[in-house]
Amino acid sequence: MLLLALETSCDETSAAVVRDGKVLANVVSSQIKLHAEYGGVVPELAAREHLKNLPPVVHAALSEAAVLPAQLDAVAATQGPGLGIALLIGFKAAQSVAFALNKPFIGINHHEAHLYSPWISGVPSIADFSSFQPNVSLIVSGGHTLLVLVASELKHRVLGGTIDDAAGECFDKTGKLMGLAYPAGPVIDRLAEQGNPKAYDFPRPLLHEANDDFSFSGLKTSVRYFIRDQPELLNDPRKIRDLCASVQAAIIEVLDNKALRAAKREGVRCLTASGGVTCNRALRSELERASKQHGFALHLAEKKLCTDNAAMIGMLAERKLLAHAPLSPWDEEIRPGWALA
Ligand code: KG4
Ligand code: ZN
Repeated sequence: MLLLALETSCDETSAAVVRDGKVLANVVSSQIKLHAEYGGVVPELAAREHLKNLPPVVHAALSEAAVLPAQLDAVAATQGPGLGIALLIGFKAAQSVAFALNKPFIGINHHEAHLYSPWISGVPSIADFSSFQPNVSLIVSGGHTLLVLVASELKHRVLGGTIDDAAGECFDKTGKLMGLAYPAGPVIDRLAEQGNPKAYDFPRPLLHEANDDFSFSGLKTSVRYFIRDQPELLNDPRKIRDLCASVQAAIIEVLDNKALRAAKREGVRCLTASGGVTCNRALRSELERASKQHGFALHLAEKKLCTDNAAMIGMLAERKLLAHAPLSPWDEEIRPGWALA
């Protein structure tokens, strides 16, 4: 099956070509620089950029895969969750391509697609997916923080999610309080490497609660008060590095412990992770250390596939079409608030 997939749920314009479980092309055009001066994604600007970038991105994906539109067997796009006017661009473009080619079209849940990004490349691959089921999957990015039990192919159950800010949002907002550039996640990752994670003690929200939910807004508030009470700290580069390391340690301890605890309780043998925050080096190494210690197979998405991309949309779409999942009707609409069940 040869499939074109589009992703425009937030600030990445992406097109991928997928064939038989392999990604032939995955072109991603990021808008990070555009939104940096506003300190966050501006939906209207994101939509205009998608509109401008989508044609060249689709063209680049098709030519990299050496595929002509007429050869496509199906088209897919992110249907939700995401920013409404951003989703609309990719979803309607993909629907129109499918309509013009008279090919099947399927709308995809962005979070469900994240579950497939650890299986896109390398070993093990999508062909080995079933031997790593059931697994517990951590999806952790600027917009979402979810723990999901993947029971088997296309069968999953959300165990918990954030009740306020997402983990990436916590990185970005605490970084903003420190005066770091947006998005602050990668900057904190870099500065924390030379900082002392035990220098300052920040709360680990919901760490000991008997559920799989997360909460990061209290941690952000605690960093706000900490900086308010000693603003001179931001004049000392060493103290900023310590602050980064301490905030990062609090976020990671919660993510790592709750993921491991859920995996043990559910009796799975494998843990996976994806989403922008999974690029974080300390999180990756902590998950590796803990998984080894507790005997879990760990499968992390490749760094370049942690952030939003159309390859994961295409992978899931292909699995769904092979499983004869219902197609999306021509008048199907976007679902900006589509929560994973
Ligand atoms: O998955 P993504 O590209 O977009 C969505 O939010 O859906 O994730 C972006 C998020 C941002 O909050 C960014 O700060 C965070 O991922 N991030 C990181 C790192 N790289 C990206 N957070 C911590 N450490 C990193 N190295
Ligand atoms: Zn995402």
